[in-house]
Amino acid sequence: MIKNITVVGAGAMGNGIAHVFAMSGFQVNLVDISEIALSKAIATITKNLDRMLKKEKIDEAAKNSTLANINTFTDTAEATKDADLVVEAATENVDLKLKIFAQLDEVAPEKAILATNTSSISITRIAAVTGRPEKVIGMHFMNPVPVMKLVEVIRGYSTTDEVTELIMDLSRTLGKVPTEVNDYPGFVANRILMPMINEAIYTLFEGVAGVEEIDTVMKLGMAHPMGPLRLADFIGLDVCLAILNVLHDGFGNPKYAPCPLLVNMVMAGKIGQKAGEGFYKYTAGTKDFVVSPSFK
Ligand code: CAA
Repeated sequence: MIKNITVVGAGAMGNGIAHVFAMSGFQVNLVDISEIALSKAIATITKNLDRMLKKEKIDEAAKNSTLANINTFTDTAEATKDADLVVEAATENVDLKLKIFAQLDEVAPEKAILATNTSSISITRIAAVTGRPEKVIGMHFMNPVPVMKLVEVIRGYSTTDEVTELIMDLSRTLGKVPTEVNDYPGFVANRILMPMINEAIYTLFEGVAGVEEIDTVMKLGMAHPMGPLRLADFIGLDVCLAILNVLHDGFGNPKYAPCPLLVNMVMAGKIGQKAGEGFYKYTAGTKDFVVSPSFK
């Protein structure tokens, strides 16, 4: 039975994952190398719980018990020693993930399942650095985690039926809808999403239409909650570029080549909302944004 969860990485995805597990009554150890990242994560979780409280989706007792279910750590071994499940949500960098999984395999109990929230890196490759590839699986949450219903559950080459079923059931316990997919570049979510975002960037790059026009077409014409350029800013242009590179390298097909404008923006540090500017410019601490002066 799964009771104790360790979440590795306290960034945007890690804090959301800790939030949803803790809200469903699991004991969560949230671990990050940075104390600052941990304090920021707790502040974000508190803010998101307050928002839910204000909208009467939860009561004060649920807010307090959720926060009480989360403990923070900077030492991975300490945070993982009683884990039934570890969910890794570190930066989307293959070398970093391989290093983390090699360490997790050493410090986590033998019975523990090791899951990764990777958005595109091969589960099979990550599993291969551990001595328990049958217990390694993809558990891909969507941002913002407390709101989005999907969990893309990715089976690596050696993941067993038993582990897959357990993670599917666990996702349902969190109130999510799990979808089982196989381990090929970009899985399903990003294999379909990223070419759309890349095409939107090409449409801008080739001068077919402006930022707002492209986003309006997709928002009002296709009922997407955000246009693709706004969504790219929300995800992070660095993350979009990294995923497109995985698709391009993995399939060797030029249709996945990242648009040169995306590459330039990442090199310039204009990586979207978290940096204050991407296709749009954001006013810190508010919900306000306007088209970036670079595209006016
Ligand atoms: N925690 C808790 N609740 C939150 C929240 C958070 N972090 N963020 C938003 N919400 C809630 C709000 O309280 C609000 O609730 P009600 O409907 O009950 O009022 C609801 O979500 C909508 O929020 P807002 O009114 O503030 O804003 P919005 O209507 O503009 O919606 C959004 C914001 C939910 C992000 C919406 O724009 C959306 O769905 N966008 C698309 C997001 C998306 O596509 N995500 C997937 C990205 S891809 C990915 O994550 C995977 C990858 O590998 C790259």
